[in-house]
Amino acid sequence: MERFETATATIAVVGLGYVGLPLVRAAHEAGFSVVGYDRDRTKIDTLNRGETYLKHLGDDLAKELAASERFKATAESKDLVSADAILLCVPTPLGPHREPDLSFVLDSTKMVAGILRKGQLVVLESTTYPGTTRDEMLPILEKESGLRCGKDFFLAYSPEREDPGRPDYNTATIPKLVGGVDEVSTDLAVAMYRSLVSEVHRVSTAEVAEAAKLLENIYRAVNIAMVNELKTLLADMKIDIWEVIEAASTKPFGYQAFYPGPGLGGHCIPIDPFYLTWKAKAIGRNTKFIELAGEINAQMPVYVVSQVISALNARGRALKGAKVLIIGIAYKRDIDDVRESPAAEIIELLWAGGAKVAYHDPLVPTFPDMRAHDIDLSTSPLTEQTLKDHDCVLIVTDHTSVDYEKIGKYAPLVVDTRNAMSRVPNPTAAIVKA
Ligand SMILES: NC(=O)c1ccc[n+]([C@@H]2O[C@H](COP(=O)([O-])OP(=O)(O)OC[C@H]3O[C@@H](n4cnc5c(N)ncnc54)[C@H](O)[C@@H]3O)[C@@H](O)[C@H]2O)c1
Repeated sequence: MERFETATATIAVVGLGYVGLPLVRAAHEAGFSVVGYDRDRTKIDTLNRGETYLKHLGDDLAKELAASERFKATAESKDLVSADAILLCVPTPLGPHREPDLSFVLDSTKMVAGILRKGQLVVLESTTYPGTTRDEMLPILEKESGLRCGKDFFLAYSPEREDPGRPDYNTATIPKLVGGVDEVSTDLAVAMYRSLVSEVHRVSTAEVAEAAKLLENIYRAVNIAMVNELKTLLADMKIDIWEVIEAASTKPFGYQAFYPGPGLGGHCIPIDPFYLTWKAKAIGRNTKFIELAGEINAQMPVYVVSQVISALNARGRALKGAKVLIIGIAYKRDIDDVRESPAAEIIELLWAGGAKVAYHDPLVPTFPDMRAHDIDLSTSPLTEQTLKDHDCVLIVTDHTSVDYEKIGKYAPLVVDTRNAMSRVPNPTAAIVKA
């Protein structure tokens, strides 16, 4: 407890991805000694060379960590023995039948159980269904280490609320929810996070913290689905949803703006709600809001492609043989993350209709390997000639650094899913919002 309160403890972060690496930065900046563990050795080697694999965090962080005596990057579990706290930030994807895939959580828990010693605090940060920490992790940790939770070691849940690429908040300034499997575990985890982030909100159990994270993400999924449905309805009524949202946003209370788009992407919103759906089934319950939202959001790539087809048709052009240039394949603005991006499905739908597809994304030079898609494309330069050569420019993600004026000047037709062209004063291109 004292080492946590005085930031003199050693904190280990397991899983150095979009969530784990910013957490390493926050713990290091708070003065803790930090061990960064990942089973992916290329990440460890990259960090040890002082280089970065997550561009949005900047080059300086990796250099600073590599030069620091208070940081060690490792793929050896024995290096976690010295840690006072071990924080797990491993993936929680869905399996082939949209069931929770806890394999990363369970594998890393077994690894931790193998090195666990008296006095250590273990915290899960990955998004998951209520009960994971107590019902899945605790038995593994106790059985494989022979130690008792709440007496020999301590266990808590604290959801990561990272929003990669967001300039106004970072790990240290986003309030942290903390709930342990017992009082002492909660006390210890609260003390640790108080030295690490600006605000800690203590809850009574790990389950409350697990459920709160899901509520946050379900709230987003449901509201995004609602505006996506309204978008398609209002488009048929010749009403611009973007202007409607801007108008509704002037109400100072009781309304929060959500924006339509080409479909959900990323590692969280399309996936996490279904963790609760799966858990609800175990007690014979349905999650109608989650499933309806999933259905509507999942239809968006099809809707967008139907708008491309109509827009081409209005210009006497078929989709078959048309050249379509996609702007932005990352799942959201100003990051290079393509996980679950609707761009992949949109490209496949365009291909299925016989279109020729190219893309421009200043942050993603080549289309990465994806489990469910096989897309072998690299970014095209955004030149006058490229724009003139394509029958349709389709804006899927509106990165800030893209030259929209140039698009408005040289593209014949722009189908815009993000209202990005509204920032161009007098485009000569035909603009269709989708
Ligand atoms: N990315 C986000 O914006 C975000 C935001 C909030 C919450 N989350 C949640 O945080 C968790 C992690 O997400 P992420 O985006 O950082 O994932 P990520 O894929 O970027 O990183 C996970 C890392 O864990 C490593 N890993 C996997 N299994 C391991 C094991 N057994 N031992 C050690 N390392 C292992 C991987 O090599 C990878 O580097 C997920 O539950 C996610 O839902 C993510």
